[in-house]
Amino acid sequence: MAWGQGLRRLFDGLKIKAARKNCEWRNTNVTRKALITGITGQDGSYLAEHLLSLGYEVHGLVRRVGMEDPERRFGRITHLLDRVQLHPASIESYPSIFHILSQHEFDECYHLASQSFVAESFQDGFSTLNVNINGTHYMLAALKELRPQCRFYFAGSSEMFGRVREVPQRETTPFYPRSPYGVSKVAGFELTRNYREAYDMFCVNGLLFNHEGPRRGYEFVTRKITSTAAQIKQGLASELRLGNLEARRDWGHAADYVRAMHLMLQQPQPDDYVIATGETHSVKEFCERAFALLDLDYRDFVKVDERFYRPAEVDLLVGDASKARRVLGWEPKR
Ligand code: GDD
Repeated sequence: MAWGQGLRRLFDGLKIKAARKNCEWRNTNVTRKALITGITGQDGSYLAEHLLSLGYEVHGLVRRVGMEDPERRFGRITHLLDRVQLHPASIESYPSIFHILSQHEFDECYHLASQSFVAESFQDGFSTLNVNINGTHYMLAALKELRPQCRFYFAGSSEMFGRVREVPQRETTPFYPRSPYGVSKVAGFELTRNYREAYDMFCVNGLLFNHEGPRRGYEFVTRKITSTAAQIKQGLASELRLGNLEARRDWGHAADYVRAMHLMLQQPQPDDYVIATGETHSVKEFCERAFALLDLDYRDFVKVDERFYRPAEVDLLVGDASKARRVLGWEPKR
């Protein structure tokens, strides 16, 4: 018994030493190199800005078609183009990822690229599963081969909680995905955890609830509402067609959420974290507020359209981010 305790203490001591060594390394002034997949998206652009402000050398993995049409496809990172290094590759191609990773010694990798529109995943579940699951697996497998010490962030999602098993949702809440997109994110989450446990790699999952902002794509409900309401105000549109107005979401600001991604990779040990505001509102409430800001009554313009309903809906999401607040010292500022 005493022997067992002594041995355990010795292991704990070694673990603490290793963690300390890690922390020391992370505090040095050496410029750190980060790779962001999905750098041209909402989160990628905010994350690139954040990492640049912290002195990182920032690299982005982009599709070749993006390189050929930068004005349209790089809209969110135009102001960063002279400060980031972009590499053409596809997350659907293991050789292209392998090639980029063999050329650079990245310290941190933020894997944000995916087919992220839930409604689209019902239209073409096969592509969503293919891109989201294989893309994540290719990244992890290539890192394991070439750079196992690179820290890896996976963009998990509150969609994984789907038909929620408890309210609010936290790290221990069981998953119950309701769309091919949700299923693909559960698979990505499990792959990330498996690489952490099987190969001792620093791999973390962020369980991020909805996060929005002016850079949000127009297909997502918040941006669809705000942009159409603005058009209505200017006389450029006459109505707004939406699906389920009763769905409730925990909406935060994307710029706050990318700070949490970075913090997750600075910890002594890899772990998974829920990132959320803890507040939930319905799509109807969002409409009410957005139209009211323009002195309009949403009831005069919003029409419910069956086409925007999903075959299976996630009715209520609200997250408990107390672990992130406690361990990461994270909290939303906006
Ligand atoms: N997009 C859209 N368009 N959604 C609508 C509409 C509409 O016309 N009408 C009602 N909704 C409802 C959807 O049914 C859903 O319940 C809610 O509005 C939010 O939809 P989205 O903004 O498309 O986001 P999401 O919650 O499905 O997914 C987003 O958040 C996830 C995190 O939970 C995406 O960003 C995912 O990639 C992300 O993982």
